[in-house]
Amino acid sequence: MAAKSKTIFFCQDCGHESAKWLGQCPACKAWNTFVEETVKAAPKGSSRGLSSAGGAAGRYALAGNAATLAEISAEEEARDDTHIGELNRVLGGGLVRGSLTLVGGDPGIGKSTLLLQAVRLFAADGMKCLYISGEESLKQIKLRANRIGEFTGDLKFLCETNLDAIEQVIEREAPRIVVIDSIQTMYIEEVASAPGSVSQVRESTGVLMRIAKSKGISIFIVGHVTKEGTVAGPRVLEHMVDTVLYFEGDRHASYRILRAVKNRFGSTNEIGVFEMRDAGLKEVLNPSEFMLEGRPESAPGSIVTCAIEGTRPLLLEVQALVTRTAFGYPRRQANGTDYNRVNLLMAVLEKRVGLQLGDCDAYINLAGGMRLSEPALDLSLCLAIVSAFKNRAIDDTTIAFGEVGLSGEVRSVALADIRVQEAVKLGFTRVILPKGSLKQLKHPDGVELIGVKSVAEAIGYI
Ligand code: TYD
Ligand code: MG
Repeated sequence: MAAKSKTIFFCQDCGHESAKWLGQCPACKAWNTFVEETVKAAPKGSSRGLSSAGGAAGRYALAGNAATLAEISAEEEARDDTHIGELNRVLGGGLVRGSLTLVGGDPGIGKSTLLLQAVRLFAADGMKCLYISGEESLKQIKLRANRIGEFTGDLKFLCETNLDAIEQVIEREAPRIVVIDSIQTMYIEEVASAPGSVSQVRESTGVLMRIAKSKGISIFIVGHVTKEGTVAGPRVLEHMVDTVLYFEGDRHASYRILRAVKNRFGSTNEIGVFEMRDAGLKEVLNPSEFMLEGRPESAPGSIVTCAIEGTRPLLLEVQALVTRTAFGYPRRQANGTDYNRVNLLMAVLEKRVGLQLGDCDAYINLAGGMRLSEPALDLSLCLAIVSAFKNRAIDDTTIAFGEVGLSGEVRSVALADIRVQEAVKLGFTRVILPKGSLKQLKHPDGVELIGVKSVAEAIGYI
């Protein structure tokens, strides 16, 4: 029976399917992201074992005999050391053999650089690597490689976008590690739509999944995050891969954060911090110190807080600027944190503490371009706003953390001991924290721990 082809509209952001065009995607609420694509109904018993929707069939190419729990081995997966500590950390302790890892991020953030550095170290460690680029010429790759350093071991490069050809090369070369840069440039001839479309991206990922699982090859896939929705974003294939890492950072700041948002072999929300240098990415071993560089001394509206990213504490500076509104409505702005949360905290300060913020503009900033929205930041946001409003600087050796409730109460937060330890490590000597968290703590020497029950009480200590 000949395969029939039909057309489906796909949301290029999240991959939602619809029989007709829609202005707004019902799944991810994005506007104008639907594009019509031709999909071939897969012939029965297709050797690829893919489904056009990228469903379960495309995810695993394992033959199916049902097994009892006793028959299933529960050994730890074999992992390869990436020799990049921060990358090991986000992967959950090394790269799992035969896993498929998506590295997403804005164009130009450093995805190709990171993976080139990773394969360089894998190759130096004696593993055979293949780096396939559909974006850059071999010459461009060579120029980048020259900046990074000396390359040794068995590492080969290929410029190709046809996945059938790529599969043959993988078959021939039998590498242990493969990098596909990027998934949006790859295509399968049988799929009618253009490279970068939802169906191409999904089908290509399905093929790579099958290669990874059947041959035990670890594959990294690069996926560009796209705002315009002209090519499919990495979100459409998140559910198919084993691990999803996002590379983020401010274009203007040199540091980059690698964040695990999905990991079948480890914990998520773990972050790795890197700095973009002339010779590629360098690990930042002490991110707190890095984040606090250049902090102003005795400036009103500034206080340091400690957030937790994954299992790692991170000190950073919260800044606030409060000025009288010149005319019209007060302006509020939040960089790096949740705008609505800032508005809510200002309402709490106005109602519960009696601060006249109603005719003030307020600007909040997490220094260094970090983006965080942990509730433990609340207390430091409140104190920064109060300090800015009163134009009174907070002592430089003080840090504050704690969640603030609608009655102005300060609620305890998780991992208070780790936060305090990190602050002590970097020389802070005063910690304002929720009274409820005091119980969980060992009192370190030479540090004043101030437990507070309400925001009003905390303000008394600054
Ligand atoms: P790249 O890895 O090409 O980004 P992506 O693959 O995510 O699109 O990174 C490109 C940026 O990094 C580019 O602006 C140049 C900069 N860069 C450095 O600053 N130092 C370096 O050693 C390298 C290789 C790149
Ligand atoms: Mg690139």
